[in-house]
Amino acid sequence: MRSKRLKKARDFESKYLPYTKSEQPVFHVTGGIGWINDPNGFAPYKGEYHLFFQYYPYDTKWGPMHWGHVKTRDFIRWDRLPAAMAPDMDYDKDGCFSGSSVELPDGRQLLMYTGVRNVRRRNGKIEYFQTQCLAVGDGTDYEKLAANPVIDASYLPEGASAHDFRDPKIWREGDRFYAVIANRCDDGSGTILLFESEDAFHWKYVSLLAACHNQYGRMWECPDLIRLDGKDVLLISTQEMNAVGLEFHPGNANFCLIGEVDRKAQHLIRESAQAIDYGLDFYAPQTLLTEDGRRVMIAWMQNWETSICKNEELRFFGQMTLPRELSLRNGRLCQNPVRELDGYRGVRIDYRNVLINGETTLQGINGRCLDMTVTIRPGNENSMYKWFRLNVAKDGEHFTFIRYKPETGTIKVDRTHSGFPHDIVNIREFHVNAPDKELKLRIVMDRYSLELFVNDGEQAASFVLYTPQQAEAISFSADGNALIDVEKYELVVH
Ligand code: FRU
Repeated sequence: MRSKRLKKARDFESKYLPYTKSEQPVFHVTGGIGWINDPNGFAPYKGEYHLFFQYYPYDTKWGPMHWGHVKTRDFIRWDRLPAAMAPDMDYDKDGCFSGSSVELPDGRQLLMYTGVRNVRRRNGKIEYFQTQCLAVGDGTDYEKLAANPVIDASYLPEGASAHDFRDPKIWREGDRFYAVIANRCDDGSGTILLFESEDAFHWKYVSLLAACHNQYGRMWECPDLIRLDGKDVLLISTQEMNAVGLEFHPGNANFCLIGEVDRKAQHLIRESAQAIDYGLDFYAPQTLLTEDGRRVMIAWMQNWETSICKNEELRFFGQMTLPRELSLRNGRLCQNPVRELDGYRGVRIDYRNVLINGETTLQGINGRCLDMTVTIRPGNENSMYKWFRLNVAKDGEHFTFIRYKPETGTIKVDRTHSGFPHDIVNIREFHVNAPDKELKLRIVMDRYSLELFVNDGEQAASFVLYTPQQAEAISFSADGNALIDVEKYELVVH
């Protein structure tokens, strides 16, 4: 059924999307027009990968949530599809919040999402209710179920919240379906609940998979439970994180718990916790399993706290990260750009053993849409350089820098001069390893973003940049002698 609200969104898209083409990043997903936040329903369907997202087409700020829709075969080139859902039913009238999708055995695509309904009380206060709802479709058009909501507060264990109950992530395992859903318990902090179904339509509560107990932030959102290289990994986005060293930054943050799910108690036994992405802009990651067995993650490349800071010239707000392949190495979550990106590498420029002392530019090393790896070693055997610095998106006025200090073993990324006319946090610092004093930085840039992958994915850090596109110089500098290799490809996507 195409409701009035959905038709309005689709008509709006047809009318205005064509005007926004020239503003878009080359290979990162945006809504094309309007606002986006979390990736939703990232999953294979009929040989393609579908991605939906939290979407408000009419303005570059958050509004009643629709689901926007794109699909791809290779995670780099995306086709835009019409908006998939609008908040048009009583149970989701105030938003179709985040959720996920799965291909049903009968070939239909199932969307599972959170319906939000606000109720104004006599005293004027608004109380919100969140329930889990379903829609089925053919990959373009979806019909919400007459039986919605399929999981409401009556399914919840004692002490669970009927208000904060959102972001179902569904998956199929053997002949059953499971979903992890975020909730809040009576200590005020987040929990992740596990549900189970035989047909994906009738659900029952299984267990409390994990609880925050006011450690690692407060309300947890957007869970995803995955099996990765012999461990269970629970990806979580959290509100109200308190900073912990350089591992967790305050506010809306992301992290994962790595361990084993006790199959009897259906509870995650934690072994470790770590940040997923160390940059300024990363939230609400979601994963899928490719046909060839890779676990690929995508996230909203944005931070809620800075989401009022925009480039007013653009008619879209919010981008997704580059999809990344996940793995576990030495007990840590690692991530690298999907290998499909290699297929879009154009002209290659290569330098070996360049001695850097002071500031240097290298012929042919520049650009804003590129894939560049810089390997840094000490220039003298027995004296270490004090710092090494890479400036990108640079002109007379602008620059974004990545600085490595061997003494503290830290990387600092600073985008103070990257086009934001706002007084916001523009710096992140984090610890890295440099085995044998060698550090490897892979930088992927796409017009309005910079994604950094350290030591073959040991760490990733994502940043939105609004630097004018003509600022495309790159320079290398060091205090002391650093020896570097540079391999740079321009990225060409038609
Ligand atoms: C996370 C989130 C989700 C919610 C959605 C609403 O970014 O707050 O918990 O479903 O955004 O747009």
